Amino acid sequence: ECVIVVTHLNIQPGDRVELKGQVAPDAKSFAVNLGRSGLDLALHFNPRFESQGDAWTIVCNSLQKGEWGEEQREPRFPFQQGQEGKMTFSFDAQEMCVTLQEHLELTFPNRLGLETISFLSVEGDFKVTSLKFK
Ligand code: GAL
Repeated sequence: ECVIVVTHLNIQPGDRVELKGQVAPDAKSFAVNLGRSGLDLALHFNPRFESQGDAWTIVCNSLQKGEWGEEQREPRFPFQQGQEGKMTFSFDAQEMCVTLQEHLELTFPNRLGLETISFLSVEGDFKVTSLKFK
């Protein structure tokens, strides 16, 4: 289980965050979090291979002052255990946007109304090989 935390970012609407890494061969779950702090997340992006009763499902949620919002589930699941994973994140005032494996797009409402993303973390069964801010 790896955890990477990046703070003091200054990601603006229209900017892109490109994340690449290796999904563990026995991956159960990993998550990418974007927001203001570990307690205020505009997006918790959580592919679950087999975790908490979910199988091959992406769970998205927001966290405000440490409280989870309503989950949004995405049944399309382009990740595979033991393979490379690629995700690109961007956002605007209305929504958070994720491109998965360079072809699948997913959006989630920007419930916190954040105008800047200053916090990013990656946790779980995913080994980051590249993180680019564009
Ligand atoms: C919880 C889980 C958290 C987070 C959240 C998303 O059940 O413990 O890690 O994934 O769901 O709604």
